[in-house]
Amino acid sequence: MNILILGSGGREHALAWAIKQNPKCDRLIVAPGNAGIAGVAECADLDIMDGAAVAAFCKEHDIGFLIIGPEAPLAAGVADAARAAGILTFGPSAEAARIEASKSFTKELCDAVGAPTAAYARFTEAAPARDYIRAQGAPIVVKADGLAAGKGVIVAMTEAEALDAIDDMFGGEFGAAGAEVVIEAFMTGEEASFFVLSDGTNILPVGTAQDHKRAYDGDKGPNTGGMGAYSPAPVLTDAIAQDVLDQIVAPCVAELARRGTPYQGVIFVGLMIEDGKARLVEFNARFGDPECQTLMMRLGAQALDLLLACAEGQLDRISAQWADDHAVTVVMAARGYPGAYEKGSVIRGLEALPATSRQMVFHAGTTAREGHITATGGRVLAVTARGATLAEAQAEAYRMVDAIDWPEGFARRDIGWRAL
Ligand code: GLY
Repeated sequence: MNILILGSGGREHALAWAIKQNPKCDRLIVAPGNAGIAGVAECADLDIMDGAAVAAFCKEHDIGFLIIGPEAPLAAGVADAARAAGILTFGPSAEAARIEASKSFTKELCDAVGAPTAAYARFTEAAPARDYIRAQGAPIVVKADGLAAGKGVIVAMTEAEALDAIDDMFGGEFGAAGAEVVIEAFMTGEEASFFVLSDGTNILPVGTAQDHKRAYDGDKGPNTGGMGAYSPAPVLTDAIAQDVLDQIVAPCVAELARRGTPYQGVIFVGLMIEDGKARLVEFNARFGDPECQTLMMRLGAQALDLLLACAEGQLDRISAQWADDHAVTVVMAARGYPGAYEKGSVIRGLEALPATSRQMVFHAGTTAREGHITATGGRVLAVTARGATLAEAQAEAYRMVDAIDWPEGFARRDIGWRAL
């Protein structure tokens, strides 16, 4: 089977790496890909936001299975266009992807099924939003309703911060994404990510992970897309996971099906856990990045069988086989990230590192230039290792980080600290 993956990050490198190991995979193409992905797949120049172009590319290259990595093409309806063209596709329709593309949609969905989440209010004008914040006080969470490249959620510890966020959102800083704003009660506890496949009817958990969103050690500094992750997440016990499936995921999936917009793809369930109870922080319509890197390292080749069963509506006939192990991903980012950073610095030492089922450097923002790998993004490498224990996986990931010669990059040194 020829397979096309859309995306260019560490998530898509990890997906490509796992899928390529499955004998069902013949030709593997990733669009647009990156310098690391080019080591496991062909990279193609394709506008991944253009559903008609993606469908035409699939026909031209005899693609039997399309996997959509990031949220933007999902929200733009690329899965709809591909399915309409008869292409087996992993990823929800634009309507179902609203679980990520519209915060108020998800809050309303939770209301409809009684799923536990923070109390909220939604606003399309600044003045009542400001009044609401003054009445509620801080801490409080202000969210742009639409997709804002991971920057649309402000956890405001003071009223002034929350009011500034309202000014920014209604002032157009997030474009159309900020035309509506959701304001939520601040939740305390520990955050964890739960990944569940849905074929529209059946659901299947495929792993847990925890992300480190702040840029610097000790969870300090600005928010980022994620500076590292580990799987499994010990805070998400089997009992809590079952409650989340029963109280949040299954009812929401059933409600989406009842509305005639079944969800097919992965649901990234962002949770806040306190006193043995989980509440929904957010849904995403894709795998997390860098959480996906830890999941793919642990799942390996079976990832393709799971994604295929999901796309074919056969999740009731398959289950994930887990080794009793752990994986850690340490993100190496360009100095300055998540603010301004230089592009084009040369990364050395990668070729000497192992590339095995236990150790991989997944590329996120890299390009091959004049025989060198150069950094072209904020998050650049996702150094991933697997071990019998979390400590072993962490030690190996940092051994690899330390072997990479990239003075213009930095990494947190404490990925996994909470579970260790
Ligand atoms: N690591 C968080 C995310 O992918 O949204």
